[in-house]
Amino acid sequence: MRVAPVTTSLRTAGATVWLTGLPSAGKTTLAFALADQLRASGRDVEILDGDEIRTYLSAGLGFSREDRDTHVRRIGYVAELLARHGVLVLVPVIAPYADTRDEVRARHAAQGTPHLQVHLSTPVEVCADRDVKGLYAKAARGEISHMTGIDDPYEVPADPDLRLDTSTHDLQGSVSALLDLLAGRNLL
Ligand SMILES: Nc1ncnc2c1ncn2[C@@H]1O[C@H](COP(=O)(O)OP(=O)(O)OP(=O)(O)O)[C@@H](O)[C@H]1O
Ligand SMILES: [Mg+2]
Repeated sequence: MRVAPVTTSLRTAGATVWLTGLPSAGKTTLAFALADQLRASGRDVEILDGDEIRTYLSAGLGFSREDRDTHVRRIGYVAELLARHGVLVLVPVIAPYADTRDEVRARHAAQGTPHLQVHLSTPVEVCADRDVKGLYAKAARGEISHMTGIDDPYEVPADPDLRLDTSTHDLQGSVSALLDLLAGRNLL
């Protein structure tokens, strides 16, 4: 007897993994390290990094609340589209406002697209010490304003899927925590 071909898709579900946290918390570093490992195992992965998006999709936007919200909504929209089609989308973007993060999460839920929120809770003192882009030093010298966590708000997520302090986990430990989260949700 011939067996009918399986017609359901065996493709792994896509998802958006939003990495929120202060400047220098480790979002970009962690996203790229995680992407390397996921790609090595054959997953389709895209990274929507805040800085890169600001040079293209969000070119011209600044750091007012309105512009930050527009930036986050645009990224959320693109992330959901990609995730809906099986891509694992990593989003290392500060996203300082809880309402806007919740909006993105709700949009994913409405579409039935998995969304995980990861809060990199690295303390501000550690972030300021790392100061990868020199922004904390500039803010301290009064050369820039609207610096998230210094003179602009960062609303700490109340109920993230994972909270991770990158000052107490090394990079591989942080990647492993994210892989465990994804595995626990059947997203690997
Ligand atoms: N466990 C860790 N995970 C991620 N980064 C780490 C970790 N431990 C140390 N670091 C270091 O912390 C710094 C984080 O910088 P990164 O650019 O990733 O921050 P960011 O959150 O993307 O900041 P921004 O919002 O300014 O883009 C890097 O120099 C990285 O090497
Ligand atoms: Mg970054």
